[in-house]
Formats: sequence, C-alpha cells, structure tokens
Amino acid sequence: MSQITLPGLIDVHTHLRVPGGEHKEDFYTGTAAALAGGITMILGMPNTSPPLTTPEVMQAVLARAQKDVLCDVGLFAGASPDYIAQLVQLAPFAAALKIYLNDTFGPLRVEDVPTLRACFQNWPADKLIAMHAEKQSVAVGIGLAAVYGRAVHFCHISRREEIELIADAKMHGLPVTCEVTPHHLFMNEADYRRMGALADMRPVLGTPDDVAALWEHLTETIDCIATDHAPHTLAEKQSPKPPPGVAGLETSLPLMITAVAQNRLTLDRLIQLMCDNPRRIYNLPPQPETWVEVEMTPTTIRSETMFSKCGWTPFHGWEVAGRISRVTLRGQVVYEAGKILAAAGNGRVLGMSD
Ligand code: NCD
Ligand code: ZN
Repeated sequence: MSQITLPGLIDVHTHLRVPGGEHKEDFYTGTAAALAGGITMILGMPNTSPPLTTPEVMQAVLARAQKDVLCDVGLFAGASPDYIAQLVQLAPFAAALKIYLNDTFGPLRVEDVPTLRACFQNWPADKLIAMHAEKQSVAVGIGLAAVYGRAVHFCHISRREEIELIADAKMHGLPVTCEVTPHHLFMNEADYRRMGALADMRPVLGTPDDVAALWEHLTETIDCIATDHAPHTLAEKQSPKPPPGVAGLETSLPLMITAVAQNRLTLDRLIQLMCDNPRRIYNLPPQPETWVEVEMTPTTIRSETMFSKCGWTPFHGWEVAGRISRVTLRGQVVYEAGKILAAAGNGRVLGMSD
C-alpha cells in the first residue's frame, strides 16, 4: 500500500447553505466535509436565503463563518438586478462575483444586459467574475470577456459544445477559464435515468459523448476541478419537486485519485486542477505547512460515514483507489483516520480583517 502527499486542495464551488438552508448544511458540517475530502480552502456560493447580494447580509454571514469554519473559506457575492447599485460596496467582503445566466436552485438570475454591463464595468478588476452559463450562454460570457477585456471563469462546464467553444476562445487569447465537476466526469444521463432525483443537478448529466469531450479536454482546456457540492436532504430529494444538486466535497479527491491510478490523468495534473490553478485564477492566499496524505488502498464510498449534513451521495457503493488518511492545515493535524481534530473557528475567513 503506497501513500501520496498532496498540497491542501481548493474547491472554488461549494454551497454551504448559510443563511437559510442550515438543515441541508452549515459552516461547521460543510467545512468538516471539506477536510474529510482533503480540501483545505473553499469558496462558498451566494444562492442562499437571503442571497449574498448586499453588504449587510454579506458581513453578517462572514461573522457567522468566522465562528464555525474548520478550513479556510471565502464567499462569492451574487449579482442581482435589484442590488446592482451596491455592487462596489459589496466587493470588499467577497472573494469573487457570481453571475447566474441560467436557471438553477434559488432565485438569483441575471437576464438583462444593463445588469451584465454594470457587473463588468463596476466590479473591481482585481476580483474575478464567475458565471453559471450553459449552452449559448457560454458565448455570452465569452463575448463579455472580449468586450470588457477582463477575465471570466465558467462554472461546471458539462457539454462538448461548451468545452469546444471555450477551447476556441482560449485559442484566440481571450481571458477565459473553466471548471468541471467530478459528477460530470464520472456519470452520464444513464445514471440520471437509473437514479432519478438523486442524480439530478444543474447542469444536468451529459451524454456519453459530452463526458468523453470533458476527458479529452482535461489535460488542456479545463483549468479546475470544482465539486459544486450542493447538498439537499434525502427527504427533499424524494419530494414531488426535488431541488437539483448533489454533495461532492468528500468524493471529489477519491474519484480523481482513482483516475490517476487508472492512468487517465497524472498526479501533477491533478494538483494543477485541484490546487495550483484554483489559487492562481481566484488569486487566493497561500496556505503554508498545509498538506493531505492519501492512502492508496481500495475503498468503498459510503453515505453513512459522510460529514456533510445531507448524509447521502450518488457515489454510494463506488469503489475508489484511495482514501484521505490525514490533513494538516498550517502545521496542525485537522483530520485523521475519519475524525475531525480542528476546532470550530480554526479556519480563516477571506474578506475578514484578522
Ligand atoms: C446548486 C444548488 O443546489 O445550490 N444546484 C445544482 O444543481 N448545481 C445550484 C447551482 O450550482 O447551480
Ligand atoms: Zn453550484
């Protein structure tokens, strides 16, 4: 049995559900799930209730985070036509701006050009703009990156047509980057037909050809692996109107390390995709003396041992090639042998002066 040591991983797409969705996840359970998954820094999404669209909400949520987090956390501000005038005041508290061009869980949506222009003109140049853009909306994002000459990061790209368009944009030197999720790499629409709501998320799972395109582009066009950890309770998923989204923090590295064991990607590339590129793209602070030890031993993913409050994963029962044995954050062992050793508030919150 061999052991691998990796730098602390960074997930730039997590839903921590505070405020308003604490029955699905909270800052403590979400960051516990991150550590158990070998992830030491996460960026939380703004589609909470209320959403992270005003400085007041943002400040209050950051203060709650500082009390509870076990790993380092930054938060996205959400773009909304209703609060667009306050965008500049919101920026100091946020790690980046998220614009939702397409439908998903929660009410945050931007469907008008004046709001898009205001975002690109007023959001500070040193902070990134990330987009939920599917199909032709990716072309909208690329167009805005070209017009305003500023970087755009595309969240959870899932289709061949999207990744090929982004490859074309990069070939033309446009400042665009993108992430893909493990679920879009390891599952396809047949899993949705088999599992229904438990394999329903936005973007929906792709065709086998979409999945093949993502693997083809993993060594070049794709910049990051991001989990889109989107926990919902089993009861919600089994209700007549199940919300889209699945957990991902605890299964991302086990799945990706399995791809390394199967020679589908190199360990160096995994580190670029899950640590170096996320840090560079989002301009995130370094985490000195921070690393993750992985035991390369066949392991079965199990819902029962999850730290995420939702308590289930669509990968339950999957055999993976390794398990996270120990996580060290700033010289302190924070996770070992299935146990959280960090104390609440141990993590740093980006955007809080400390
Ligand atoms: C996310 C959620 O539940 O917040 N759901 C999802 O299916 N991905 C929203 C999102 O990331 O689009
Ligand atoms: Zn998401």
